[in-house]
Amino acid sequence: MSETTAKLTLGDETYEFPVLSGTVGPDVIDIRSLYAKTGLFTYDPGFTSTAACDSAITYIDGDKGELLYRGYPIEQLAAKSSYIEVCYLLLYGELPSKAELADFENRVTRHTMVHEQMHYFYRGFRRDAHPMAIVTGVVGAMAAFYHDSTDISDPMQREIASIRMVAKLPTIAAMAYKYSVGQPFVYPRNDLDYASNFLHMCFAVPAEEYKVDPVVAKAMDRIFTLHADHEQNASTSTVRLSGSSDANPFACIAAGVACLWGPAHGGANEAALNMLREIGTVDRIPEFIERAKDKNDPFRLMGFGHRVYKNYDPRAAVMQESAREVLELLGVENNPTLQVAQELEKIALEDPYFVERKLYPNVDFYSGIILDAIGFPTSMFTAIFALSRTVGWIAQWKEMIGDPQKKIGRPRQLYHGATTRDYVDIAQR
Ligand code: CMC
Repeated sequence: MSETTAKLTLGDETYEFPVLSGTVGPDVIDIRSLYAKTGLFTYDPGFTSTAACDSAITYIDGDKGELLYRGYPIEQLAAKSSYIEVCYLLLYGELPSKAELADFENRVTRHTMVHEQMHYFYRGFRRDAHPMAIVTGVVGAMAAFYHDSTDISDPMQREIASIRMVAKLPTIAAMAYKYSVGQPFVYPRNDLDYASNFLHMCFAVPAEEYKVDPVVAKAMDRIFTLHADHEQNASTSTVRLSGSSDANPFACIAAGVACLWGPAHGGANEAALNMLREIGTVDRIPEFIERAKDKNDPFRLMGFGHRVYKNYDPRAAVMQESAREVLELLGVENNPTLQVAQELEKIALEDPYFVERKLYPNVDFYSGIILDAIGFPTSMFTAIFALSRTVGWIAQWKEMIGDPQKKIGRPRQLYHGATTRDYVDIAQR
């Protein structure tokens, strides 16, 4: 029990609430008894002041620009680890030993194929369907194909469902891409690492051999790592809220994918590259900066700003470095989009509007440039974010299911609608 308490005075009454401390980060006022004690609710749209869970997975210090997975700084993981190792870390809490990693990799690899009948499911979509529409549908449909891992009360089934999703999401996303370009689906190859296998499933064709470039595979792996988890963001909170009703894990992750699609969240990488292309040349930047500052114009600098980071997003720094490496390798270092991005960043970071509001580039500002250089169409960007984030969603979902404090999520409201009134017959209206 915490010793510090917070006092709330309402009229003549004073109520006390415990203040809880985590290992790091701001303390929280425990208001679980607020309604019972006072008959009042708190009002916090957008959850800007609300901690909705107790978690030990990811920590962000937005003022410092720090991101930790299970305590490890993202910069170290991006430089030294691999995505598959990061998946293990997020799911099980510790870095794996060599044997544990080999076993985990083997388990994931053995689940990369999807049920053959899923191929027919894809064929029901229009060819021009957005990959996120397909991925949302197919992930939800996994519950119809894998009945034997939908019982959330069985830890074994929870584990198999988790492995299945980490393993199959790249296959599902790659199939969405292949379907949109009218090429045959490419089966996963278990001799390739996670990132190389994804690239192979996206870009190989039966007519010729496709060799995965290790620099490109490394950049892909880094993109996966940087997107793997991000604390209680909108899609993760969606997964937790869906899971709080004991819905099956495939349905919960499909809900997360749907939420991620929005341009204020995962859809920003697609929107950021489209914006950079629309700007086109460095001389047009001032015009767009002015538009972003104009309150009468809905335009925002996509890939800029963040609810939590009020400093440089540490993922953007790694991503910028990766963008340079990949473009250099592919011989397109004079890429006009990268030039516009770098100049836009420079101008925005000196402009008082952005400085005062602490608006910095976020992860999405540079990721699109890399994905574009690798050969992905913009419509695939958010699907790649979704496959990377799947492990984070699953880790958070598993943590919640195992939490003895778990309750169905049920926010309350401040009601401003009509009070009780009598029904009026249609003839009298
Ligand atoms: N361009 C111009 N102005 C901005 C921007 C932007 N990108 N972002 C925020 N502002 C302004 C906003 O108009 C407001 O100004 P004022 O105080 O004068 O009204 C102030 O900054 C605070 O903005 P907010 O909308 O209250 O902040 P928020 O925390 O609710 O929104 C955000 C965060 C990420 C939705 C927002 O910054 C945004 O829309 N950015 C562009 C979309 C984007 O890049 N999203 C990706 C986020 S990172 C990846 C992910 O998590 O999915």
